[in-house]
Amino acid sequence: MEIRFRDTSAERIKTGLLVIPVQEKKLDASEIRALDRRLHGNLRARIHKSKFTGAEGTTLLYTTAGLLPAAQLLLVGTGGEAEIATDAWRKTGARARREAVAIGADEVALLFAPGKNPDSAAAAVVEGALLAAYQFNKYRFNAKPAAEVKLLTLFSPGLRQNGALQRAVDRAQATVAGVFLARDLINEPPSVATASFLSAQAARHCRGRGLSVEVWGKRKIEAMKLAGLLAVNRGSHEEPRFIKIYYKPVGKPKKKVALIGKGITFDSGGLSLKPSKAMETMKLDMAGAAAVIAAMSCLPKLGLDIEVTGYVPTTDNLPGHNAQKPGDVIRYLNGKTIEVLNTDAEGRLILADALALAAEQKPDYMINLATLTGACMIALGTQVAGVFSNHPPLVEALLRSGGETGEKLWQLPLVKEYKESIKSSIADMKNIGGAHGGAIIAALILQEFVGEVPWAHLDIAGPAFNESDNLFGPKGGTGFGVRTLINFLSSL
Ligand code: BES
Ligand code: MN
Ligand code: ZN
Repeated sequence: MEIRFRDTSAERIKTGLLVIPVQEKKLDASEIRALDRRLHGNLRARIHKSKFTGAEGTTLLYTTAGLLPAAQLLLVGTGGEAEIATDAWRKTGARARREAVAIGADEVALLFAPGKNPDSAAAAVVEGALLAAYQFNKYRFNAKPAAEVKLLTLFSPGLRQNGALQRAVDRAQATVAGVFLARDLINEPPSVATASFLSAQAARHCRGRGLSVEVWGKRKIEAMKLAGLLAVNRGSHEEPRFIKIYYKPVGKPKKKVALIGKGITFDSGGLSLKPSKAMETMKLDMAGAAAVIAAMSCLPKLGLDIEVTGYVPTTDNLPGHNAQKPGDVIRYLNGKTIEVLNTDAEGRLILADALALAAEQKPDYMINLATLTGACMIALGTQVAGVFSNHPPLVEALLRSGGETGEKLWQLPLVKEYKESIKSSIADMKNIGGAHGGAIIAALILQEFVGEVPWAHLDIAGPAFNESDNLFGPKGGTGFGVRTLINFLSSL
């Protein structure tokens, strides 16, 4: 999709679908009055008769019948805020794209008159328009490809294309390519998307200036004593992998960041087997890994001057004949031991290795993403990720990034008193606590492996996967985290 900026007005622009964002209670904005005059007063009449109020989510489609150069007119409600928020721009972009596809328009023009933050508004519109078009049709016979929208024009009287706007749009396009990569990796069936597949995909996509990939096979993982990854892998016939992705900027890096992603390519629960319903979507359990690989793949295009290392421990969690058993003890590189009482609490076992390894490099920040607990979904639902951290400024920065990208984050506490519940009778800790606070317990276990490094853990179990289609994409992997990671890294 080509993006253009133009200095013109709604009455003059020739396009298939003309999109006008309308704020609630501003139904008599000057651009609507101008259009209404050209439409002989019929637009106001239609608005009056319809349910369109400008409330977020309401739309009205109007056929211009040759009275305007634009064939169809779409009013999109953006809500009651004094100024259209970044998120409302993103949704408007998505609604515009969906309506264009629905009516078969291949050119869209959108009235773009943002207030304070034109660059982030432009990036958001473009992001929304791109995200809405995602499809995963690889396994369908004769899938009908979505109608293509060839051109999106952002216009308003006096709008000037400038370098900052263009860069914002370029960044949005690069970022969405990353989101789509993450979605593709998550949506791939679990017997295809194995540890070695993920490694090959990382090697294929993480290329370009400053970016390189190193993959450790089972031998090397044994030599490096990644005991948690090996323990989880014991029940599988697939070999594990440990993927490292390096990004080194051209100049001297301002900061050093480590990103760690949970890469369980399928979580059956192991011997602590999940019920079949709970297993249906467990190919999603590498969504943290997908987000890390995808975010890293975008770095050369973004040209950030920070050093970033991605760490992805990956295996499936299966109950094969050699599987680890409840009661087994894992001894980690840092000397700590974990008694495995439930093999379904496996994410923390493989992340422990990766966090300890990443912490050795003393990065300025360490961020892990993991579909870690059902408990986090119970706490925050399917739209919000939990954030745990030992470093308040890092939380603040992540919450700000999440606010800008529309990926919802909410801080949850590391309650040290709850460490009582992970005391083991024979080891330093056990891998599960009691019935309550499961998301916090998991985070406390991770914290045992990060040392003093400023660290944040994002539990993305809820938002990693859409249970049904939504505005920004179909049922399946969402690519949650990619946009927030990129926003965060760009803000350093
Ligand atoms: N991968 C799951 C968590 C999960 C559940 C992600 C639902 C997405 C949707 C994780 O490995 C797991 O099984 N966690 C257990 C932990 C329990 C055994 C302490 C859980 O949440 O039930
Ligand atoms: Mn599990
Ligand atoms: Zn899992």
